[in-house]
Amino acid sequence: MARDTLITCRCLCKSYHDIQHGERVVALDNLTLEIPRGEFVTVIGPSGCGKTTLLNIVAGFERPDSGEVLVENQPIQEPGADRGVVFQEYALFPWLTLRQNVEYGPRERGVPPAEAREIVERTLRLVSLQGAENRYPHELSGGMRQRAALARVLVNDPKILLMDEPFAAVDAQTRAALQREVARLWAETGKTVLFITHSVEEAVLLGDRVVTMTTRPGRIKADVAVSLSRPRDPTSPTFNDYRRAIEQLLTDAGTAASTEKPG
Ligand SMILES: Nc1ncnc2c1ncn2[C@@H]1O[C@H](COP(=O)(O)OP(=O)(O)O)[C@@H](O)[C@H]1O
Ligand SMILES: [Mg+2]
Repeated sequence: MARDTLITCRCLCKSYHDIQHGERVVALDNLTLEIPRGEFVTVIGPSGCGKTTLLNIVAGFERPDSGEVLVENQPIQEPGADRGVVFQEYALFPWLTLRQNVEYGPRERGVPPAEAREIVERTLRLVSLQGAENRYPHELSGGMRQRAALARVLVNDPKILLMDEPFAAVDAQTRAALQREVARLWAETGKTVLFITHSVEEAVLLGDRVVTMTTRPGRIKADVAVSLSRPRDPTSPTFNDYRRAIEQLLTDAGTAASTEKPG
């Protein structure tokens, strides 16, 4: 059965005024993208090509100059509970324990305490953080903090997860563990994910589709369906074929040297 479209980005244009150089910077130029419900889409492209701008517009943090984003056919005007955003920096309150951090959302929404506690416990189990409830953020490892940030978002049960290079700041081993975790969470929860990355390997490892963007102004260069079964093995020959193909697309975008730098 064909899956219905959950997110539609239609002809998005966005430019900024660069005060320092006194010029207009076109961040997105007529970008159109459709994401079916339940799909995991990774977006990769050179630094400064407009990836964060795209994510911020879908999140409702920024408005496009023209074009629109629809979620379930409704235009997005502002941030909403249907979209949870995970950034590279862990968005945790340092003065609250892990449990209090995760409880924050449900409390703000007025969920009764007993129910909130149950949702929080379930969410902490989902991200494998049970047992660490009473620790403060500084007592958690980088990987645990990023899982905690994920829990803060998942506890509100958004339909959509928007992730902007969430694992760019952690070490390689932690990153691999977090990638497995996100792939499992996605499979278990059926969320729709828009995941921005700088890493070709990460893009192929996680995405049903890898969308590559061109150097500014950001347009879609290619949209590659990844038909590898999960869990995926980055050392397999077919995985490498995808990796090579996407690296080539990025090279053609004029950016081979910058594809692995976070930004
Ligand atoms: N608030 C802003 N003011 C001015 N320029 C901006 C602003 N946000 C982004 N830009 C510019 O828009 C372009 C795209 O930025 P961004 O979406 O952050 O790229 P990416 O996430 O792909 O690295 C960059 O040239 C950046 O400098
Ligand atoms: Mg960015």
